[in-house]
Amino acid sequence: MSKKLTITAIKKRKGEKPLVMITAYDALFAKLLEPSADMILVGDSLNMSFAGRNDTISTTLEQMIYHTNAVCKGAPNSFVICDMPFGTYTCKEDALHNAIKVFQKTPADSVKIEGGTDKAEIIQHLTENGIAVCGHIGLLPQSVRSEGGYKVKGKSADEREQLLKDAKAVEEAGAFCMVIEGTKAEVAKEVAQSVTIPVIGIGAGADVDGQVLVFSDMLGFFEEFTPKFVKKYLEGATLVKKALQEYADEVVNRKFPTEEHIY
Ligand code: KIV
Repeated sequence: MSKKLTITAIKKRKGEKPLVMITAYDALFAKLLEPSADMILVGDSLNMSFAGRNDTISTTLEQMIYHTNAVCKGAPNSFVICDMPFGTYTCKEDALHNAIKVFQKTPADSVKIEGGTDKAEIIQHLTENGIAVCGHIGLLPQSVRSEGGYKVKGKSADEREQLLKDAKAVEEAGAFCMVIEGTKAEVAKEVAQSVTIPVIGIGAGADVDGQVLVFSDMLGFFEEFTPKFVKKYLEGATLVKKALQEYADEVVNRKFPTEEHIY
């Protein structure tokens, strides 16, 4: 995308053209994916994808600020969303204090907050104070330990009801869009139809207003596990390992460097 989308332009895409969101954690990849993405999410998934941890819980605000600055530097024309990490928005005062830190220390366009009705007051406090908020409902990775794993949402009537309430609460609190993660496709569709702001899905089927994927999953760099909802658009790990082995073989066999690489 050549020009950064505004919040108005993002909202207008509802019911028009699906929005493309991809995660990035550094300038190099942000620059590569900028032409293909409408929005770049600096997800706290960086704790797993980049830092090799088992979940997102130990991500710090300082890490998010560091990586968000790198992404904004690599993709200056992209709408960038910075995830608020676990524990940084447990009350509205802390949430505003920490979101202001993100806004003052990075050029991020928005923050993202996990939660629905339970976080509506916090989202409202941020939006009333000049912080654009992307909501995140459905499967919430920051609740993985309290919930005892990653559990698909929308399987029961109660869960469906709660998701519809969550989406409405997030919208009414002033969020400009929201992510819906790990949710039965038919329920995600209903959720998307129940609000006027874009609902971006991940593992939530096709009938939403856009899709988000973690770049290292979709490019096949993350080898340990491929969730059902991920499509690999590249066998990244295989290609990288092949190239590295070629380099190693050439060094060992004194085939690199050759004349063209020598001063
Ligand atoms: O942290 C992240 O990458 C996310 C996506 C899974 C939406 O929140």
